[in-house]
Amino acid sequence: MSRNKGRVVIVTGAGSGIGKAATARFHSEGAMVVAVDLTDASLEWTQGLDAVVSLAGDVTDPQLNDQMVELAVDSFGQLDGAVLNAGILAQGDITRGSMADYDRVMDVNVRGVALGLKSSVAAMANSGGSITITGSVSGLRGDSGLWAYNASKGAAVNLARAAALDLGHLNIRVNAVCPGPIHTGLTEDTKGSEIADAMEARLPLGRFGEPEEVAAVISFLISEESSFVTGAAIPVDGGVTAGTGQWATYAGRKRGFL
Ligand SMILES: NC(=O)c1ccc[n+]([C@@H]2O[C@H](COP(=O)([O-])OP(=O)(O)OC[C@H]3O[C@@H](n4cnc5c(N)ncnc54)[C@H](O)[C@@H]3O)[C@@H](O)[C@H]2O)c1
Repeated sequence: MSRNKGRVVIVTGAGSGIGKAATARFHSEGAMVVAVDLTDASLEWTQGLDAVVSLAGDVTDPQLNDQMVELAVDSFGQLDGAVLNAGILAQGDITRGSMADYDRVMDVNVRGVALGLKSSVAAMANSGGSITITGSVSGLRGDSGLWAYNASKGAAVNLARAAALDLGHLNIRVNAVCPGPIHTGLTEDTKGSEIADAMEARLPLGRFGEPEEVAAVISFLISEESSFVTGAAIPVDGGVTAGTGQWATYAGRKRGFL
């Protein structure tokens, strides 16, 4: 596990779930990491890890984005990768969901990513680099009751493609990782519920994913092993986007879903 040894990587949303798993993975691979999340408390778990520095703040703040890049360069001398992963969810169908929720979701999931791209690229422009954006299967298709999230993740995925086109000549690669349902803070309230059961019935692999399974793909995309991959939107979704969604899968039928 030395795929990213010596590389310097920023991870946003590092306090929980996929970002936490990605930070732990980079650390175990010998990378140096700037871990970013809303509060110091959420980043406390990184204390005592050598070559991991933490920064608390909101990714929608341009200053925070500049600071995280400065911290990478000041602490470790360079920036090779950025995992723009912080994200939030809002539920409620389009007739009831509030525009305040919509604005906040778009702010974090799209503006936060755009700011992260701009700040990171400034430090990578001379030496190349790799950026991943955590999209979602909800950025590839729609979901009932998740309109604001769907809009934001669709934008995030297409932002990865557009940035890849703009930055290829600088040898900066940009890809989107598109998870399906993963056991993290975001899905905690569905754990053990009927909703989780019904979702699993639509997943060919018949289960939620674990954050480490997403982190493994992020690690590959940040590393030089993926040197010819850019502008891709890669599902890490237990196969859910392979189907039309009309039928439960074999795994689901075994549990009594049609
Ligand atoms: N869990 C899933 O099923 C799933 C599926 C598809 C996509 N995703 C995406 O994965 C990413 C990571 O989410 P997760 O599932 O690990 O959830 P999570 O809630 O466990 O972790 C998200 C982290 O981002 C941080 N964060 C939120 N807003 C922030 C902000 N404005 N500034 C800085 N940090 C902020 C939170 O504090 C939290 O620590 C998100 O972009 C999410 O949309 C998750």
